[in-house]
Amino acid sequence: MRGNLGVLDAEERARLGLAPDRPYFEGFDASRVPSPCFVIDRAALQYNLDVLSAVARESGAEILLALKAFSAFSVFDQVRAALPGVCASGLNEARLGRESGFGHVTTFSAAYREDQIDGILEQSDHVIFNNLGQWAAFRDRALAAREKRPSLSFGLRVNVNLPLGDHPIYDPSAPGSRLGTPRGEFDARLRELFPGSDPHRLPDGLEGIHVHNLCEQGTGPLEKTLEALERDWGDVLRSGSAKWLNLGGGHHITKPDYDRARLVEIVRRLRREYGVEVFLEPGEAVAIHTGILVSSVLDVARNGVRLAVLDVSAVCHMPDTLEMPYRAEVWNSGEGAFTYRLGSQSCLAGDVMGDYGFPRELERGDRLVFDDMSHYTMVKTNTFNGVDLPSIALWDSRDGSLEVVRSFGYDDFKTRLS
Ligand SMILES: Cc1ncc(COP(=O)(O)O)c(C=O)c1O
Repeated sequence: MRGNLGVLDAEERARLGLAPDRPYFEGFDASRVPSPCFVIDRAALQYNLDVLSAVARESGAEILLALKAFSAFSVFDQVRAALPGVCASGLNEARLGRESGFGHVTTFSAAYREDQIDGILEQSDHVIFNNLGQWAAFRDRALAAREKRPSLSFGLRVNVNLPLGDHPIYDPSAPGSRLGTPRGEFDARLRELFPGSDPHRLPDGLEGIHVHNLCEQGTGPLEKTLEALERDWGDVLRSGSAKWLNLGGGHHITKPDYDRARLVEIVRRLRREYGVEVFLEPGEAVAIHTGILVSSVLDVARNGVRLAVLDVSAVCHMPDTLEMPYRAEVWNSGEGAFTYRLGSQSCLAGDVMGDYGFPRELERGDRLVFDDMSHYTMVKTNTFNGVDLPSIALWDSRDGSLEVVRSFGYDDFKTRLS
């Protein structure tokens, strides 16, 4: 019987599918941090960054961290040393990227706000427009900003209308998607908004193409996406009017089974064939298997099944488990004899993390650890029901150092309301 559920042993590492050489919470004991608490392992983050740096070096791609997935600025010193920049979803993230000292900021929003576009032009190096209507609306301001800073560059997000994902909520090619411009729409709007423009080139002022079509995927779906891209947009790519090609995120580059050699070949070919600079903007691949969410059992009870109420919430702290949905792993759980339905303190009946088996009965005060909780968690938390935000701590498997870098309280709940 494993008494302490908040530590990771070799057997459990194997069950979680961790690459054998990945450092991951070695020597860590969940009872050492306040609860609830997100904990990032700097050594695990460095492992991902090293993998990404090698891919960038070998392929010649520029790899940007997608801030939407992971914005833990306490570890940006490490990210900055490995990656040249970030991709932002709007003004706030662009500003965070700039303030954090990254050399490159790419910004894309499905539409820009009148009162924010000048700030975005100021904070970004690449600004990507979702369609030609957006470009027409902001073109004069964009070109004026570029007069002042010639390195500023603008691109168009295209949509290849090729759904490849398992989760429609994350599929930019889902039918009726608002994300990006299909080729037919480009042709029609080009004639209408920029009459006389060469139909095989981007209109004057645009010099990049952005396509984001993947989610947690390998090089197979990337190749299918590129086949569609080159079929629909090959004339534009060949015309030389695009200086750069941004292949978005969703590349699972740091997963043990990802075919990195193939990605390197693909990027090299694109650079060679079209003379473009290639950008990748992974979020998950930067932060996957770098962090955990430590929780505590507040109560155990029964209602036909065994119940455990925790101080973490699916709705407030792990919303992807409900939105995607997916089942989070919990350390030292599985086929154990004692199965509990893990739920939150909140009033929402469905605020349940799932049924998990443990090797022994749970007790008040037990620490339970939700695995792989760095990406799309801290950036998505909320205080529904007044539930507390988890603290944030940094662990380093290389030297056993631990620092709680952020705690939250009543003010963090109240200042979001009025
Ligand atoms: C435009 C864009 N770039 C990058 C990303 C990051 O994707 P991921 O975290 O799956 O790598 C996303 C995710 O939605 C995105 O929409």
